[in-house]
Amino acid sequence: MDTSPEGMSEIGSVAVVGAGTMGWQIAALTAASGRAVALHDALPGAAERAVERMRVELPALASGPDNLPLPPPTDVEAVVRRVRVAPTLADAVAGADLVIEAVREELATKRAVFAELDRLTPRAILATNSSSLPSAALADAVSGPERLLNLHFFSPVWLRPMLEVMSCGQTSPAVLAAGERFGRSLGLVTAVVRGQSKGFIINRVWRAVKREALRVVDEGHADPEDVDRLWMLFFGTPSGPFGLMDMVGLDVVADIEASYQAVSLDPTDRPSATLGRLVNAGKLGEKTGEGFYHYPNPAFRRPGWLRGEE
Ligand SMILES: NC(=O)c1ccc[n+]([C@@H]2O[C@H](COP(=O)([O-])OP(=O)(O)OC[C@H]3O[C@@H](n4cnc5c(N)ncnc54)[C@H](O)[C@@H]3O)[C@@H](O)[C@H]2O)c1
Repeated sequence: MDTSPEGMSEIGSVAVVGAGTMGWQIAALTAASGRAVALHDALPGAAERAVERMRVELPALASGPDNLPLPPPTDVEAVVRRVRVAPTLADAVAGADLVIEAVREELATKRAVFAELDRLTPRAILATNSSSLPSAALADAVSGPERLLNLHFFSPVWLRPMLEVMSCGQTSPAVLAAGERFGRSLGLVTAVVRGQSKGFIINRVWRAVKREALRVVDEGHADPEDVDRLWMLFFGTPSGPFGLMDMVGLDVVADIEASYQAVSLDPTDRPSATLGRLVNAGKLGEKTGEGFYHYPNPAFRRPGWLRGEE
C-alpha cells in the first residue's frame, strides 16, 4: 500500500497474526465489516480453534442481552466464511492492506514478528495490538516505520467498542488517518493518542489501578474479593480489578506488568507475589477455569455476594 496521502486507499483485506483472546475477536469484527481476513497463529491448530470460537461465541453474544454497545454479527456463517486460516505468516500477509499483530505481550517476540512482516510484505500497513508497548519500540525492526502504528483494541470488543490509535513517532499522517477510519468502519469509537504514551490513555490509568490492587493484597491488607467488592460498590461496576484481570488472562497481565516495571523509575514497582504464584500454578483466570476466582460461575457474579451475604 502506498502510504502517502495521495496513494492511501481504503483498507480492503486484513491479516491478523496471533489467534488468541484478541486475535479471534479482531478477525471476527473485521470480517463482520465485510472484509476478507487471513488469520495466522504460530501454534498449530490455534487459528482453527479461533474460528470454532467464532462459531460458538458469536451466536451466544447475539442471543444475549440486547444492550451490547456494539451489536455482534447475526450472520455468523457469513463472518466465518470471510476468515481464512493461513498456515504460514507469508500466506497470511499475501495481498493484505493491513496486518494486525496480536501475539503475546513480549517485545522480543513482537520485534521478530515485525522483522518478518517487513520482509514479507513491503507495502501493507503494520499495526500492533499491544496493550502496553509503543510501536516506537518496533520501529527499527522495520524498514519503513511510516507504515507502522498502534491499533489498540479492547476485550471483549462488543462490550468495549473502542480503539486507541498511536503513532510510532514516524507514522505517516495518512497511515494514522487510515487506521482511525478503519476503526470507525468497524463501528468502534476511536481516540488518537497525542505524542507518545506508554499504556496509551486508558491502560495507563488501568495499570495504576492493577498495581495498587495487587499491592494491597501482597501486603496482606485485604483479599481480592474485598478489593473487588468495595470497588464494585464504589464505582457501580459489574466487576472489580481482580475479576477484570481474570478476564484479561493472568499471564497477559503479568507480561504487561513486567513491561511497565522494566521502565519504571520507582524501585518499589516490582512483580506481585500474588500474581506470580497464580501464573506459576497455571491458574490464568477465566481461560483456565481458575485465577483469582473459579469459572464459569465466579463468586462476584453470584446474587448476594456484593452485599457479603454468603
Ligand atoms: N487479552 C486482552 O484483554 C488484551 C486486550 C488488548 C490488547 N491485548 C494485547 O493483544 C496481544 C495478544 O493478547 P491475547 O490476550 O490475545 O494473548 P493470547 O495469549 O490469548 O494469544 C496470543 C496468541 O499468539 C500466538 N503467538 C505467539 N507467538 C506467535 C508468533 N510468533 N506468530 C504467530 N502467533 C504467535 C499464540 O500461539 C497465541 O495463540 C498482546 O499484545 C496483548 O497485550 C490483549
